[in-house]
Amino acid sequence: HDPRRRDFINIAAVAWAGVGAGVIVLPLINQMNPSADVLALSTTEIDISKIEPGQSIKSTFRKQPLFVRNLTPKEIAEADAVAISDLRDPQSLEERTKAGKKNWLITLGVCTHLGCVPLGAGEGENKGPFGGYFCPCHGSAYDTAGRIRQGPAPTNLVVPEYAFTSDTVVTVG
Ligand code: FES
Repeated sequence: HDPRRRDFINIAAVAWAGVGAGVIVLPLINQMNPSADVLALSTTEIDISKIEPGQSIKSTFRKQPLFVRNLTPKEIAEADAVAISDLRDPQSLEERTKAGKKNWLITLGVCTHLGCVPLGAGEGENKGPFGGYFCPCHGSAYDTAGRIRQGPAPTNLVVPEYAFTSDTVVTVG
């Protein structure tokens, strides 16, 4: 009798059971979610007519939080005053907005560190030391262009694909 050999057989049996469970679980999960191609095609229309300068709304896009913010002239000036070379993820406000619509900052509301939802889009929420958004999980601070300025997040808040389908409607996706 060799105990080491029996251990090996037991471990192999357990590992095999684990693989089997994985194979059974995956199709169930896939049935509950829309398929990847459906998600890829889905767009979200947002009415921006009621968002005054200085206000933001929280929406969702493909199941992720989405922030739509109407920047004030002061917030635009603050973003423009920053030297791009000082930024961790160098991008101008121009590059992150549409031509002639620099006041509309549209980003995912997902911190690029570990994915928490930053504060700052809701009425009265803490916008953090750079006046944009503040992630309470580990203290990442974003500026009025949604660019990372302080804390562990590596990159700016993501700007999704979007277009103005009228003066008051934005279609994201
Ligand atoms: Fe936002 Fe860590 S998830 S700082």
